[in-house]
Amino acid sequence: MMVKIGKLVNYPISRPVRVELTKVERRLDEVIEDVPAHLRDKIKQIMKAGGKRLRPILVILSSASSGGVNAKTIDGAVAVELIHLASLIHDDILDNASSRRSVRTLNYTYGHNYATACGDYLFGYAFDVLSRHDDSDLLKPLTEASMALSIGEIMERDMAGDLHQNRKDYYERIDKKTAALFSAACKIGAAASGQNGDGKANLSSYGHCLGMAFQIYDDVLDINGEENILGKPVGNDIKEGIVTLPVILAVKDQVSNEIKEAIVDPNDNNIIRAIDFIKESGSIIDSKEIAKEFINKAKKSIMNLSNKKIQGELLSIGDFVIDRYH
Ligand code: FPP
Ligand code: MG
Repeated sequence: MMVKIGKLVNYPISRPVRVELTKVERRLDEVIEDVPAHLRDKIKQIMKAGGKRLRPILVILSSASSGGVNAKTIDGAVAVELIHLASLIHDDILDNASSRRSVRTLNYTYGHNYATACGDYLFGYAFDVLSRHDDSDLLKPLTEASMALSIGEIMERDMAGDLHQNRKDYYERIDKKTAALFSAACKIGAAASGQNGDGKANLSSYGHCLGMAFQIYDDVLDINGEENILGKPVGNDIKEGIVTLPVILAVKDQVSNEIKEAIVDPNDNNIIRAIDFIKESGSIIDSKEIAKEFINKAKKSIMNLSNKKIQGELLSIGDFVIDRYH
Protein backbone atom coordinates (compact mmCIF):
# COMPACT_ATOMS: atom_id res chain seq x y z
CA MET A 1 0.00 0.00 0.00
CA MET A 2 1.28 3.46 -0.88
CA VAL A 3 1.11 6.19 1.73
CA LYS A 4 1.68 9.87 1.38
CA ILE A 5 4.26 11.25 3.78
CA GLY A 6 5.35 14.80 3.44
CA LYS A 7 4.19 16.67 0.40
CA LEU A 8 5.44 14.73 -2.53
CA VAL A 9 6.74 11.35 -1.56
CA ASN A 10 4.87 8.14 -2.10
CA TYR A 11 6.57 5.47 -0.06
CA PRO A 12 6.09 1.79 -0.62
CA ILE A 13 5.23 1.01 3.02
CA SER A 14 2.60 -1.34 4.30
CA ARG A 15 -0.39 -0.54 6.49
CA PRO A 16 1.10 -2.07 9.69
CA VAL A 17 4.22 0.07 9.30
CA ARG A 18 2.07 3.11 8.60
CA VAL A 19 0.16 2.46 11.85
CA GLU A 20 3.44 2.41 13.81
CA LEU A 21 4.64 5.51 12.00
CA THR A 22 1.48 7.32 13.07
CA LYS A 23 2.45 6.60 16.69
CA VAL A 24 5.86 8.13 16.04
CA GLU A 25 4.20 11.15 14.46
CA ARG A 26 1.97 11.59 17.53
CA ARG A 27 5.02 11.45 19.77
CA LEU A 28 6.73 14.09 17.65
CA ASP A 29 3.61 16.25 18.13
CA GLU A 30 4.10 15.84 21.89
CA VAL A 31 7.68 17.05 21.54
CA ILE A 32 6.31 20.23 20.00
CA GLU A 33 3.84 20.60 22.90
CA ASP A 34 6.65 20.15 25.44
CA VAL A 35 8.69 22.96 23.93
CA PRO A 36 8.59 26.31 25.80
CA ALA A 37 5.62 28.24 24.36
CA HIS A 38 7.59 30.94 22.58
CA LEU A 39 9.68 28.31 20.73
CA ARG A 40 6.73 26.11 19.76
CA ASP A 41 5.99 27.61 16.36
CA LYS A 42 9.67 27.76 15.51
CA ILE A 43 10.18 24.05 16.18
CA LYS A 44 6.88 23.05 14.58
CA GLN A 45 7.87 24.83 11.38
CA ILE A 46 10.81 22.50 10.78
CA MET A 47 9.32 19.33 12.29
CA LYS A 48 6.15 19.38 10.23
CA ALA A 49 7.62 20.60 6.97
CA GLY A 50 7.18 17.27 5.23
CA GLY A 51 10.26 15.18 5.98
CA LYS A 52 10.40 11.68 4.56
CA ARG A 53 10.60 9.99 8.01
CA LEU A 54 12.89 7.46 6.41
CA ARG A 55 14.97 6.84 9.55
CA PRO A 56 11.96 6.09 11.82
CA ILE A 57 10.68 3.70 9.15
CA LEU A 58 14.02 1.87 9.30
CA VAL A 59 13.74 1.56 13.09
CA ILE A 60 10.21 0.16 12.77
CA LEU A 61 11.06 -2.28 9.97
CA SER A 62 14.20 -3.49 11.76
CA SER A 63 12.16 -4.31 14.88
CA ALA A 64 9.36 -5.83 12.83
CA SER A 65 11.81 -8.06 10.95
CA SER A 66 12.12 -10.23 14.04
CA GLY A 67 10.59 -9.98 17.47
CA GLY A 68 8.15 -7.20 16.61
CA VAL A 69 7.55 -3.54 17.32
CA ASN A 70 7.28 -2.40 20.96
CA ALA A 71 7.62 0.73 23.12
CA LYS A 72 11.40 0.73 22.71
CA THR A 73 10.96 0.73 18.92
CA ILE A 74 8.69 3.78 18.97
CA ASP A 75 10.99 5.68 21.34
CA GLY A 76 13.96 4.65 19.20
CA ALA A 77 12.22 5.93 16.07
CA VAL A 78 11.34 9.23 17.77
CA ALA A 79 14.89 9.67 19.07
CA VAL A 80 16.50 8.96 15.70
CA GLU A 81 14.20 11.44 13.93
CA LEU A 82 14.93 14.09 16.56
CA ILE A 83 18.68 13.69 16.06
CA HIS A 84 18.13 13.99 12.33
CA LEU A 85 16.04 17.15 12.75
CA ALA A 86 18.57 18.65 15.17
CA SER A 87 21.38 17.96 12.71
CA LEU A 88 19.43 19.61 9.86
CA ILE A 89 18.83 22.72 11.96
CA HIS A 90 22.55 22.90 12.76
CA ASP A 91 23.49 22.11 9.17
CA ASP A 92 21.34 25.00 7.92
CA ILE A 93 23.12 27.33 10.32
CA LEU A 94 26.52 26.15 9.11
CA ASP A 95 25.43 26.34 5.44
CA ASN A 96 23.77 29.70 5.96
CA ALA A 97 20.78 28.14 4.17
CA SER A 98 17.59 30.14 3.75
CA SER A 99 15.16 27.34 2.87
CA ARG A 100 14.67 23.63 3.45
CA ARG A 101 11.68 21.49 2.49
CA SER A 102 10.23 24.62 0.88
CA VAL A 103 10.02 26.50 4.19
CA ARG A 104 12.30 29.21 5.52
CA THR A 105 15.02 27.83 7.79
CA LEU A 106 15.04 28.68 11.49
CA ASN A 107 18.34 30.54 11.12
CA TYR A 108 16.91 32.64 8.28
CA THR A 109 13.73 33.57 10.17
CA TYR A 110 14.92 33.80 13.76
CA GLY A 111 18.70 34.12 13.52
CA HIS A 112 21.56 31.79 14.33
CA ASN A 113 21.29 31.97 18.10
CA TYR A 114 17.65 30.89 18.29
CA ALA A 115 18.20 28.19 15.68
CA THR A 116 21.18 26.80 17.61
CA ALA A 117 19.12 26.63 20.81
CA CYS A 118 16.22 24.88 19.01
CA GLY A 119 18.59 22.29 17.51
CA ASP A 120 20.21 21.72 20.91
CA TYR A 121 16.78 21.23 22.48
CA LEU A 122 15.80 18.49 20.02
CA PHE A 123 19.23 16.88 20.43
CA GLY A 124 18.79 16.71 24.22
CA TYR A 125 15.18 15.54 23.90
CA ALA A 126 16.27 12.60 21.74
CA PHE A 127 18.53 11.27 24.48
CA ASP A 128 15.93 11.92 27.14
CA VAL A 129 13.41 9.77 25.22
CA LEU A 130 15.81 6.90 24.77
CA SER A 131 17.50 6.97 28.17
CA ARG A 132 14.13 6.13 29.81
CA HIS A 133 14.76 2.51 28.83
CA ASP A 134 18.15 2.30 30.53
CA ASP A 135 19.36 0.05 27.70
CA SER A 136 22.85 0.67 26.33
CA ASP A 137 22.05 -1.38 23.18
CA LEU A 138 19.59 1.38 22.31
CA LEU A 139 21.66 4.33 23.49
CA LYS A 140 25.09 3.38 22.18
CA PRO A 141 24.17 3.48 18.45
CA LEU A 142 22.62 6.91 18.95
CA THR A 143 25.60 8.39 20.83
CA GLU A 144 28.01 6.93 18.27
CA ALA A 145 25.98 8.20 15.32
CA SER A 146 25.70 11.68 16.86
CA MET A 147 29.47 11.87 17.21
CA ALA A 148 29.93 10.53 13.67
CA LEU A 149 27.54 13.18 12.30
CA SER A 150 29.56 15.92 13.90
CA ILE A 151 32.89 14.50 12.70
CA GLY A 152 31.41 14.17 9.20
CA GLU A 153 30.39 17.80 9.29
CA ILE A 154 33.87 18.83 10.49
CA MET A 155 35.48 16.77 7.71
CA GLU A 156 33.22 18.47 5.19
CA ARG A 157 34.40 21.89 6.37
CA ASP A 158 38.06 20.76 6.43
CA MET A 159 37.88 19.44 2.87
CA ALA A 160 35.89 22.38 1.49
CA GLY A 161 37.29 23.71 -1.78
CA ASP A 162 39.85 20.90 -2.10
CA LEU A 163 39.56 19.52 -5.63
CA HIS A 164 42.32 16.95 -4.97
CA GLN A 165 40.17 14.82 -2.70
CA ASN A 166 39.33 11.38 -4.00
CA ARG A 167 36.40 9.01 -3.79
CA LYS A 168 37.74 7.36 -0.64
CA ASP A 169 37.84 10.72 1.19
CA TYR A 170 34.27 11.37 0.07
CA TYR A 171 33.02 7.94 1.13
CA GLU A 172 34.61 8.29 4.55
CA ARG A 173 32.90 11.66 4.98
CA ILE A 174 29.41 10.62 3.89
CA ASP A 175 29.66 7.46 5.94
CA LYS A 176 29.95 9.66 9.01
CA LYS A 177 27.68 12.48 7.92
CA THR A 178 24.76 10.35 6.74
CA ALA A 179 25.21 6.57 6.65
CA ALA A 180 26.03 6.35 10.36
CA LEU A 181 22.52 7.48 11.38
CA PHE A 182 20.84 5.15 8.87
CA SER A 183 22.87 2.27 10.24
CA ALA A 184 22.12 3.34 13.83
CA ALA A 185 18.38 3.41 13.04
CA CYS A 186 18.57 -0.24 11.98
CA LYS A 187 20.68 -1.22 15.01
CA ILE A 188 18.27 0.52 17.38
CA GLY A 189 15.26 -1.15 15.77
CA ALA A 190 16.95 -4.55 15.97
CA ALA A 191 18.04 -4.01 19.57
CA ALA A 192 14.54 -2.86 20.56
CA SER A 193 13.13 -6.23 19.52
CA GLY A 194 15.94 -8.15 21.19
CA GLN A 195 17.91 -9.08 18.07
CA ASN A 196 21.65 -9.57 18.22
CA GLY A 197 24.43 -11.25 16.29
CA ASP A 198 24.21 -11.69 12.51
CA GLY A 199 20.63 -10.45 12.20
CA LYS A 200 21.50 -7.09 13.75
CA ALA A 201 24.81 -6.85 11.85
CA ASN A 202 23.08 -7.48 8.53
CA LEU A 203 20.45 -4.82 9.18
CA SER A 204 23.21 -2.42 10.24
CA SER A 205 25.07 -3.10 7.01
CA TYR A 206 21.84 -2.59 5.03
CA GLY A 207 21.39 0.78 6.77
CA HIS A 208 24.98 1.79 6.06
CA CYS A 209 24.75 1.01 2.33
CA LEU A 210 21.31 2.63 2.05
CA GLY A 211 22.68 5.78 3.73
CA MET A 212 25.67 5.91 1.38
CA ALA A 213 23.37 5.66 -1.63
CA PHE A 214 20.99 8.21 -0.11
CA GLN A 215 23.76 10.82 0.31
CA ILE A 216 25.23 10.19 -3.15
CA TYR A 217 21.76 10.67 -4.63
CA ASP A 218 21.28 13.79 -2.51
CA ASP A 219 24.52 15.17 -3.89
CA VAL A 220 23.38 14.36 -7.42
CA LEU A 221 20.09 16.19 -6.81
CA ASP A 222 22.02 19.23 -5.59
CA ILE A 223 23.35 19.52 -9.14
CA ASN A 224 20.66 17.89 -11.21
CA GLY A 225 17.47 18.53 -9.22
CA GLU A 226 14.75 21.14 -9.52
CA GLU A 227 14.53 23.81 -6.85
CA ASN A 228 10.72 23.79 -6.61
CA ILE A 229 10.69 20.02 -6.03
CA LEU A 230 13.80 19.85 -3.85
CA GLY A 231 12.52 22.62 -1.57
CA LYS A 232 16.01 24.17 -1.49
CA PRO A 233 18.25 25.81 -4.07
CA VAL A 234 20.40 23.69 -6.39
CA GLY A 235 24.15 24.26 -6.61
CA ASN A 236 24.39 24.92 -2.89
CA ASP A 237 27.23 22.43 -2.37
CA ILE A 238 29.40 24.16 -5.00
CA LYS A 239 28.51 27.50 -3.45
CA GLU A 240 29.75 26.21 -0.07
CA GLY A 241 32.87 24.65 -1.68
CA ILE A 242 31.63 21.15 -0.78
CA VAL A 243 33.19 18.74 -3.24
CA THR A 244 30.77 15.87 -3.86
CA LEU A 245 30.99 12.68 -5.92
CA PRO A 246 29.75 14.18 -9.23
CA VAL A 247 32.47 16.84 -8.93
CA ILE A 248 35.21 14.36 -7.97
CA LEU A 249 34.33 12.19 -10.98
CA ALA A 250 34.05 15.19 -13.30
CA VAL A 251 37.58 16.43 -12.48
CA LYS A 252 39.20 12.98 -12.27
CA ASP A 253 40.81 13.14 -15.72
CA GLN A 254 40.46 16.78 -16.65
CA VAL A 255 41.09 20.19 -15.15
CA SER A 256 37.96 22.31 -14.95
CA ASN A 257 38.31 26.07 -14.85
CA GLU A 258 34.51 26.26 -14.57
CA ILE A 259 34.55 24.38 -11.25
CA LYS A 260 37.65 26.17 -9.94
CA GLU A 261 36.13 29.57 -10.69
CA ALA A 262 32.78 28.64 -9.11
CA ILE A 263 34.53 27.60 -5.91
CA VAL A 264 36.66 30.76 -5.73
CA ASP A 265 33.80 33.07 -6.74
CA PRO A 266 30.40 31.34 -6.34
CA ASN A 267 28.28 33.89 -8.17
CA ASP A 268 25.17 32.63 -10.01
CA ASN A 269 26.81 32.68 -13.41
CA ASN A 270 29.88 30.71 -12.28
CA ILE A 271 27.69 28.14 -10.54
CA ILE A 272 25.58 27.62 -13.67
CA ARG A 273 28.77 27.14 -15.75
CA ALA A 274 30.15 24.64 -13.23
CA ILE A 275 26.86 22.71 -13.17
CA ASP A 276 26.81 22.57 -16.98
CA PHE A 277 30.38 21.28 -16.98
CA ILE A 278 29.54 18.55 -14.45
CA LYS A 279 26.45 17.48 -16.40
CA GLU A 280 28.36 17.34 -19.69
CA SER A 281 31.18 15.29 -18.12
CA GLY A 282 28.82 12.34 -17.63
CA SER A 283 29.56 12.19 -13.90
CA ILE A 284 25.88 12.46 -12.94
CA ILE A 285 25.17 9.16 -14.68
CA ASP A 286 28.29 7.59 -13.12
CA SER A 287 27.33 8.82 -9.64
CA LYS A 288 23.82 7.39 -10.01
CA GLU A 289 25.38 4.10 -11.07
CA ILE A 290 27.56 4.09 -7.93
CA ALA A 291 24.50 4.86 -5.78
CA LYS A 292 22.81 1.86 -7.41
CA GLU A 293 25.80 -0.34 -6.54
CA PHE A 294 25.40 0.67 -2.88
CA ILE A 295 21.70 -0.22 -3.08
CA ASN A 296 22.60 -3.61 -4.51
CA LYS A 297 24.98 -4.13 -1.58
CA ALA A 298 22.23 -3.05 0.82
CA LYS A 299 19.87 -5.59 -0.73
CA LYS A 300 22.48 -8.34 -0.47
CA SER A 301 22.91 -7.63 3.26
CA ILE A 302 19.31 -8.62 3.93
CA MET A 303 19.20 -11.58 1.58
CA ASN A 304 18.86 -14.03 4.48
CA LEU A 305 16.14 -12.16 6.32
CA SER A 306 13.53 -14.78 7.13
CA ASN A 307 10.60 -12.35 7.34
CA LYS A 308 9.99 -11.99 3.60
CA LYS A 309 7.29 -9.33 3.96
CA ILE A 310 9.62 -6.99 5.82
CA GLN A 311 12.46 -7.91 3.49
CA GLY A 312 10.27 -6.81 0.57
CA GLU A 313 9.61 -3.45 2.21
CA LEU A 314 13.31 -2.88 2.88
CA LEU A 315 14.10 -3.75 -0.75
CA SER A 316 11.47 -1.27 -2.00
CA ILE A 317 12.95 1.48 0.17
CA GLY A 318 16.28 0.76 -1.51
CA ASP A 319 14.69 1.33 -4.92
CA PHE A 320 12.93 4.45 -3.70
CA VAL A 321 16.19 6.07 -2.46
CA ILE A 322 17.70 6.06 -5.95
CA ASP A 323 14.52 6.98 -7.76
CA ARG A 324 13.39 10.14 -6.01
CA TYR A 325 13.21 13.80 -6.85
CA HIS A 326 13.86 15.25 -3.38
C1 FPP B 1 22.49 17.37 5.71
O1 FPP B 1 23.19 16.93 4.58
C2 FPP B 1 23.29 17.27 6.96
C3 FPP B 1 23.68 16.15 7.61
C4 FPP B 1 23.33 14.83 7.06
C5 FPP B 1 24.49 16.13 8.86
C6 FPP B 1 24.62 17.41 9.62
C7 FPP B 1 25.38 17.24 10.89
C8 FPP B 1 25.72 18.25 11.74
C9 FPP B 1 25.36 19.66 11.48
C10 FPP B 1 26.48 17.94 12.98
C11 FPP B 1 25.65 18.21 14.20
C12 FPP B 1 25.08 16.94 14.67
C13 FPP B 1 24.09 16.76 15.61
C14 FPP B 1 23.83 15.40 16.08
C15 FPP B 1 23.25 17.86 16.14
P1 FPP B 1 23.70 17.90 3.45
O2 FPP B 1 24.43 19.05 4.06
O3 FPP B 1 24.45 17.11 2.45
O4 FPP B 1 22.34 18.32 2.75
P2 FPP B 1 21.63 19.71 2.53
O5 FPP B 1 21.83 20.03 1.10
O6 FPP B 1 20.20 19.40 2.81
O7 FPP B 1 22.20 20.72 3.44
MG1 MG C 1 24.20 20.98 4.12
